[in-house]
Amino acid sequence: MEHSRLKIAIDCDDAATGLKKVLFDYLVEKGIQITDLNYRGAGSAMYPDIGYHLARKIKEKEFDRGILLCGTGLGMSIVANKVEGVYAGVCHDVYSAERLCKSNNAQIITLGARVVGPELAKKIIEAWIQSEFEGNGSLAKVKRIHELESETFHALEV
Ligand code: RB5
Repeated sequence: MEHSRLKIAIDCDDAATGLKKVLFDYLVEKGIQITDLNYRGAGSAMYPDIGYHLARKIKEKEFDRGILLCGTGLGMSIVANKVEGVYAGVCHDVYSAERLCKSNNAQIITLGARVVGPELAKKIIEAWIQSEFEGNGSLAKVKRIHELESETFHALEV
């Protein structure tokens, strides 16, 4: 999909509010359709609630892709992967960000604001936006992931 047509959601916990603003402003300037979900639930939501909220919106196809930010990127990745059919990976380098789309067909990228600085984070997000699933040899592998998760996940009502 032409990257300017991608609908992207972004959110973070309290460890990454500064990085979220940097990336949000950067993507708006680039003409990307970006929505800051700024989820706080009933009060001060923690990263599990914030990450799960965004991942559900990807499952419901409200957005094509998501960016989740916390201190390390790890907690957000773990929780986003709890939604069946939604896949997330931590990327702190450009090559991984490309492969996350090209090989793994994951919809969500996570980054840690305590791990990468804002300029590297922009480069990582730029590479991620420019990348798409290549299919080919990777198709059977991502299908296999879905088969395996179907053995343990219960179908969710959406
Ligand atoms: C702070 O809550 C920190 O644990 C969180 O931002 C994240 O790094 C978890 O993986």
